[in-house]
Amino acid sequence: MNKYFVTSALPYANGDIHIGHLVEYIQTDIWVRLKKLLGNEVVYVCADDAHGTPVMLKAESEKTTPEELIAKMQKRHKEDFDSFYIEFDNYYTTHSQENEDLSSTIFERLKKSDLIEKKIIEQFFDEEKQMFLPDRYIVGTCPRCGALDQYGDSCEKCGATYSPTDLGMPRSALSGNIPIRKKTDHYFFKLSSKKCFDFLNEWTHGRDTLQEEARNKIREWLKKDEEGYSLLADWDISRDAPYFGFKIPGTKDKYFYVWLDAPIGYYASLMNWCSLKKKDVDEYIGKEAKVELIHFIGKDILYFHALFWPAMLHFSGFRTPTSLYAHGFLTINGKKMSKSRGTFITARAYLKKNIEAEFLRYYYASKLNGSMEDLDMNMSEFVQKVNGDLVGKFINIQSRCSGFLLRHFDGEILSQKEIVAINPIEAKLEEEIEQASEQIKEAYNLRNTSRAVKEIMRMVDQINNYIQEKKPWETAKNIENIPKTEVLVLHSVLSLALRCFGKISILLKPVIPITCNKIERDFFCCEIPFSWQDISNLRIKKIRNIGHLIKRINEDDVKNLIKVGE
Ligand code: 2FM
Ligand code: ZN
Repeated sequence: MNKYFVTSALPYANGDIHIGHLVEYIQTDIWVRLKKLLGNEVVYVCADDAHGTPVMLKAESEKTTPEELIAKMQKRHKEDFDSFYIEFDNYYTTHSQENEDLSSTIFERLKKSDLIEKKIIEQFFDEEKQMFLPDRYIVGTCPRCGALDQYGDSCEKCGATYSPTDLGMPRSALSGNIPIRKKTDHYFFKLSSKKCFDFLNEWTHGRDTLQEEARNKIREWLKKDEEGYSLLADWDISRDAPYFGFKIPGTKDKYFYVWLDAPIGYYASLMNWCSLKKKDVDEYIGKEAKVELIHFIGKDILYFHALFWPAMLHFSGFRTPTSLYAHGFLTINGKKMSKSRGTFITARAYLKKNIEAEFLRYYYASKLNGSMEDLDMNMSEFVQKVNGDLVGKFINIQSRCSGFLLRHFDGEILSQKEIVAINPIEAKLEEEIEQASEQIKEAYNLRNTSRAVKEIMRMVDQINNYIQEKKPWETAKNIENIPKTEVLVLHSVLSLALRCFGKISILLKPVIPITCNKIERDFFCCEIPFSWQDISNLRIKKIRNIGHLIKRINEDDVKNLIKVGE
């Protein structure tokens, strides 16, 4: 048994969860469920990312306080995650006492390690709003291609990145006024220091658990210039008031930048869980912690998790992550999600169309391969996978066999031993599933869920072929007139197919947990949930009539998901 501390990225508190976000939460949840099913001890935590300018401004526009807004959003996010069966052990907020204390501790320790430096910088300032403007709140002309109305950090037309002071005709996106330049003191984390560089180099090289693509990216970031100096820039970790965040200790009006306390929020959520569960927090985050720490993230935030975060942790005396598992973005029908194309689909909008949450889980599982490649959601493929694989193949086994077993055999399932005695050759189908389960487990472990699902469906095809070959419906039609031995064979065919169905449902449990729970509890009448070990020792005795387990997806509902102007 191993111990794991697992996280998914913390969603910002200024917007709803959408199906792009769900790629990550579903991927993590499947992995965590697998690990738990195998008997490991896993704590899976997350939290709302509550701080920053967008949250502050959104609260202002909604005429509420940031505290009220983040409380409302945290509840909403948690509801969305619950509806998609994302089973966190703790869902917290970064706006917590634990997080404030820990952020201050880390800051103080970094200061002691001589890794914090105060520098005077010049930034755009909106005189009407009386605030310094973050890059995204300044618009102007792209210095490279001349495109109008571009943000202060990058151009959407030509992809150039620059600093806001490079923009032509800069304006405040908040008031429309021309901002002035103003000097201000900021705190920087000295990422460019030799000791940070050396540490990160070693950390990256020694980490055999990093994806190859991620390692290559990090190596690029860690290149040196011709004179051998680090190319990493120091990181500005402070923001001026007004800001919604934690005040920096020892200052009057400086706040920690949201990206400083956000990852610390992973540890704070864990600390909160530890105090609720009376666990020793050092076992998870102390310097010598043995528990594996796994961060699931999107490829866009690799930089934060692979550079700042491990360096901050190392130099403040905490353990560093074991692995970073990065995934790509979601595209819809080959294009970026967009409001104008009607493909910006929130978790709530999806559920409103009465499409099962487990369908999305299954679809994503069938596409994810553990790499950083983007994942395309193709709506016709979505319908075909759900109706074809899940209903047409998997549930088909149950619907083809359970009626006969209930009608003619009182729902009693023969044991594996009895089936072997009747037909030792056909009974091998069960063993084949057992053998395949090893590869399926391995694929799940590597987050190559598409391979796992493919292999599961290969077994499902074999079971269906077996049923097709045996045609139990024909024997059942004549049951009054056939010899007892044939009745026994029929009983064995149905039992074997349904035992295989039970095993497949264990294999699918990480992906569609609710349906599989129904299968074990309501259909197979088992009080104790199946574990992975039950694949080789399935103790089921009877079935019950439970009607349709999964209904086919309605194509129109899926078409309606994409609605321009909604
Ligand atoms: O990119 C984002 O959506 C951030 N809110 C993720 C934060 S993850 C962690 F570092 F806190
Ligand atoms: Zn441009």
